[in-house]
Amino acid sequence: MQKLRLKHLAAIRWFHWINFPLLALMIWSGLLIYWAYDPYRIWPIHFFPKWIYSLFHMEHKLAEGMALHFVFMWLFVINGLLYVGYTLVSGEWRYLVPRSAGAWRDAWIVVLHDIGVRRALPEQAKYNAAQQVSYSAIIVMGAGSVLSGLAIYKPAQLAWLAALFGGYEGARFVHFCLTMGYIVFFIVHIAQVIRAGWNQFRSMMIGYEAVSDR
Ligand code: HEM
Repeated sequence: MQKLRLKHLAAIRWFHWINFPLLALMIWSGLLIYWAYDPYRIWPIHFFPKWIYSLFHMEHKLAEGMALHFVFMWLFVINGLLYVGYTLVSGEWRYLVPRSAGAWRDAWIVVLHDIGVRRALPEQAKYNAAQQVSYSAIIVMGAGSVLSGLAIYKPAQLAWLAALFGGYEGARFVHFCLTMGYIVFFIVHIAQVIRAGWNQFRSMMIGYEAVSDR
């Protein structure tokens, strides 16, 4: 027999599903801005070759990118703050933050398991150690995007903040690197969701997962 067990609280699901399109929009609009002046290279090639911009129709959309970025950044910030506040107040942070001394080792074991090198998995609560490490990292990255974003948004008024990143150029570089980090996270996250299967995906939609009661 199977029964349903609550896995994800409603608030967490809302924050997650609101963040998903917001983050996608922030990446997209950010790249529309980046097109206008794309200095970064993996020497000697441009980080994004021209054909990528053409393929995704990203050229000449600086104004559109800025308009989207500067509206949705506030929603991204509000949703992020509410999410972090909620996890602290509700105690959910305990499942998310890697707290044991062996968390990094366990995370590595999970990775080895996922790529098929190891059979056994370490014990886990709601999230496995690799999820804890990556979900905590993504929250720190979010804070990094907000801070570096503010630094390049108001580099004169917030000169002290820009200085923490080594100046405007440093803040811009961090902002860009974090974006590349989200793209990698996105790809791995979606692959893991597909791998974990329908039961897990559904639990992020309706809150409940099906478990065997034996
Ligand atoms: C996860 C969320 C975010 C992502 C993925 C993202 C991504 C990007 C990217 C790729 C760029 C282009 C960088 C470049 O040209 O070097 C950019 C520019 C920028 N972003 Fe963000 N960003 C995010 C959040 C924020 C936030 C929260 C703020 C402000 C609080 C912000 C403010 C800015 C500003 C001011 C620019 C520069 C615009 C200009 O050059 O005129 N961003 N963003």
